[in-house]
Amino acid sequence: MRIAITNLKGGTGKTTTAMHLATGLAAHGRTLLIDADEQGSATAWSQLIGDGCPFDVVTDAGADLHLRFDRLVASYAHVVIDAPPHDAAIVRSAIQLATNIVIPLTPSAMDVNRLWPMIELATTVHRGDAPSVLVLLTKVRPHTRTLRITRETLDEMGVPVSSIEIPQRELYRTAFGTIPNDPERYQSVVGELLRKEVVAA
Ligand SMILES: Nc1ncnc2c1ncn2[C@@H]1O[C@H](COP(=O)(O)OP(=O)(O)O)[C@@H](O)[C@H]1O
Ligand SMILES: [Mg+2]
Repeated sequence: MRIAITNLKGGTGKTTTAMHLATGLAAHGRTLLIDADEQGSATAWSQLIGDGCPFDVVTDAGADLHLRFDRLVASYAHVVIDAPPHDAAIVRSAIQLATNIVIPLTPSAMDVNRLWPMIELATTVHRGDAPSVLVLLTKVRPHTRTLRITRETLDEMGVPVSSIEIPQRELYRTAFGTIPNDPERYQSVVGELLRKEVVAA
């Protein structure tokens, strides 16, 4: 499975999600994380983990990832790409490598409004089969009006949204530099993605 973690907005939990999903997928097969954000947060995080990092990491913020990494990704069971915000060319390239797109989204009317260009990219840019798209709500504050309105709006937009929500928690904020460990939520997202892959095959 090749998952591009994308959102053209920054700070939505892309890197946190990429690190958790790569760790979860590494238990199911050899896994590569491509850090395509020039800020290099996933690379720094992995380096702090050191030798115990359960997946390989390459750092490359190029707009031709899909051309240069086609070979490399084929030697891995799973690939996770941590895409940058604000750089549509790199995001396009990441999407062209992907079988799945996970869009971390922080519930807010403004963030949902800004999701359209991302959905448009995710559904129009691809080589071969279109990747399957899944919005993952992050930094969620349960039982809020914002959460309800966000879910309603996404529903009206016809965008697939995971039933699993990643709450706003210190656990995630302090995970930087450590091997991510979230058996409850992110692990369930990995399970959801792998199950869908089996069904689609
Ligand atoms: N579920 C969460 N709860 C609390 N803080 C979070 C959560 N997910 C991410 N964060 C924090 O939010 C900030 C942005 O997250 P990050 O994963 O770097 O987003 P992005 O890669 O989209 O810019 C970081 O400080 C991170 O620790
Ligand atoms: Mg990031």
